[in-house]
Amino acid sequence: MKFLTPRLIKIASLIKDDDEIVADIGTDHAYLPIYLAKGHKVKFVYASDINKNPFKVAKENVKNFGVSDSIEVINSPGLSWTLERDNLIIDCCVISGMGSTTILDILKLDNDKINSYIISSNTLVGPIRQWVKEQKYFIEQEVLVEDNNIIYEIIKINKFAGIKIKKHSQIYFGPILLKNIDKLFVEKWVKEKEKINKILINLPSRDKKIKPLKKNLKLINKFINKEMSE
Ligand SMILES: C[S@@+](CC[C@H](N)C(=O)[O-])C[C@H]1O[C@@H](n2cnc3c(N)ncnc32)[C@H](O)[C@@H]1O
Repeated sequence: MKFLTPRLIKIASLIKDDDEIVADIGTDHAYLPIYLAKGHKVKFVYASDINKNPFKVAKENVKNFGVSDSIEVINSPGLSWTLERDNLIIDCCVISGMGSTTILDILKLDNDKINSYIISSNTLVGPIRQWVKEQKYFIEQEVLVEDNNIIYEIIKINKFAGIKIKKHSQIYFGPILLKNIDKLFVEKWVKEKEKINKILINLPSRDKKIKPLKKNLKLINKFINKEMSE
């Protein structure tokens, strides 16, 4: 499928062979579910969206690509529809293309029917990793991908196995990404540093946000400088 972006292709690559039942929350056009169904990578996909228009477009696309037997399109907010269904097991639930605040709101309805998540946020993923730590869940995989000049962090959360988050630096940068610091990692955090510096310049001198921002800047410098000096 030509229209699948590098970010969505990377998300699809994190879906394993035994992730047979997948859900895509905030599916929009349903490109990811169609790609998965067309490639026979999964048995069944639930593609849900809160808004009427994406729901309609997703339904049309699923029909036009001839994959109506393996995708159900649902018009519902977040994970609420999962609570209404008996005997539902979702091996992997994708939540992507929204900000971390919206994603965390959706995760409030996390439940036992879902075994793992792939999260791709439009904003920093730290708050999601903090949630993972609080739930005592694990990080199964983390990757960076550059798409349209933006470097995205994509994480796979597993409820049963993987890496436990312990330290603040792991929450901020990701425990797996920290172990494999590469060019893209450095590029992402250099850009983030520039963003923070711009915010700091424009904040009034007694603003409450200054202290946590400076703390983050110090943390970025520590890891980036270490990498650059090696
Ligand atoms: C930018 S699109 C992302 C599409 C695709 N998931 C991706 O990653 O490219 C965001 C979609 O999420 C939907 N959305 C926003 N909040 C939602 C929620 N609470 N529950 C379900 N869908 C939501 C929007 O209607 C929109 O279609």
